[in-house]
Amino acid sequence: MSKSLKTFLIAAEKDNLNKSANPAIVRASTIYFKSIQEMQKLQKKIGKGVKTDYFDYGRQGSQTSIALQNILKELEQSYHVFLTQTGFGAVALAIMSICRPGDEIVISDCVYRPTQKLTSQLLKEFNVKTIWYNPNSFDDLKQKVTKKTKLIYVENPGSNSFEFQDLGKIVSFAKRKKIYTAIDNTWATAYFFKPIKLGFDLSITSATKYYSGHSDVMAGTLAVSKKVYKKVWWYNHVSGYRLSADDAYLVIRGLRTLSLRLEKHQENTLKVIKWMTKQKKIVKILYPYKPSSKEYKLWKKYYSGASGLLSIIVKSKSKSSVYKFVNSLKLFGIGYSWGGYSSLAIYNHPVEMGKRFFFKLEKNCHLIRLHIGLEDPNDLINDLKKSIKFIK
Ligand SMILES: Cc1ncc(COP(=O)(O)O)c(C=O)c1O
Repeated sequence: MSKSLKTFLIAAEKDNLNKSANPAIVRASTIYFKSIQEMQKLQKKIGKGVKTDYFDYGRQGSQTSIALQNILKELEQSYHVFLTQTGFGAVALAIMSICRPGDEIVISDCVYRPTQKLTSQLLKEFNVKTIWYNPNSFDDLKQKVTKKTKLIYVENPGSNSFEFQDLGKIVSFAKRKKIYTAIDNTWATAYFFKPIKLGFDLSITSATKYYSGHSDVMAGTLAVSKKVYKKVWWYNHVSGYRLSADDAYLVIRGLRTLSLRLEKHQENTLKVIKWMTKQKKIVKILYPYKPSSKEYKLWKKYYSGASGLLSIIVKSKSKSSVYKFVNSLKLFGIGYSWGGYSSLAIYNHPVEMGKRFFFKLEKNCHLIRLHIGLEDPNDLINDLKKSIKFIK
């Protein structure tokens, strides 16, 4: 790509045919062909997993999803990008495309809760063994790998606990052992970090979050290397994953302002953190902001920026007073699906993180996940200032 990424996201996929600024929303199930011969020719290609720039049936998408795929392919610098109806669909598509009975999956003990369930519960029913490794120890990962390991699955940073791993080391090790690698890159998006370029085979992003950015769309993207393209294409082909034209359009619209939004989320987050560091009730901030920390160094090594999601640990003997702190916030909505324009807060009940083998909160410590939105950061600080008084 010769243009800067910011310019590319603005300039890509104009509708040259209709001369409109944006690609058309093409809703289609039926696709017409000029002749039976043309239909058969295309079907033959599609049946072999050959990439084409149009489809034979609406289940595979339409011009709108192709426009989105074209933008994402450049953004991710990947061989291809598959689209799914939710971010979790992209997690499932990645894992189910690769793992087969008798295989083992080695997975970091910090992944999103539904990913834990898919691997440890569903895969077990298909005779795929899940082995957890400590995200703070590369040696632990190396020890967990066996001859049966088919996939190393990473989420970086860790879901709600924000561990950062040495991604380059993981990729090189996996390549030496001929093991596929997957990463959930939703926190940074491909705007701040490009996993496929580093050597990962599969890179998942919940487009529900920053790509669409307005808390009104659900979508997922799975960028892949050439090595795994056919496997993913095959599983996708027989399982019916698809993104609607309307949602694909809304993700394209979100991508136009991705750079502005992500940089503002980052700027606001650092301003709020500056205030938080002076609060005695906040004992830890889980975000790569402190240059002396291991997390910061590992983040800096691979990422060009950080988004607006972080956790804080507060200490209190009174859980109800911590609940009151969260409940009293006026500008932070209590809810899931961060990555939209507004701020959010959740009290991290153990159910949120599921079963963790290597993460423990100390006694009387409480974890709160915050998403810092695009509001004026001074207003967010004032909101937190008023509410933090409730923590006893
Ligand atoms: C890290 C991560 N990956 C995947 C998902 C799933 O995305 P979606 O909600 O779009 O299914 C989420 C949702 O919160 C997430 O936090």
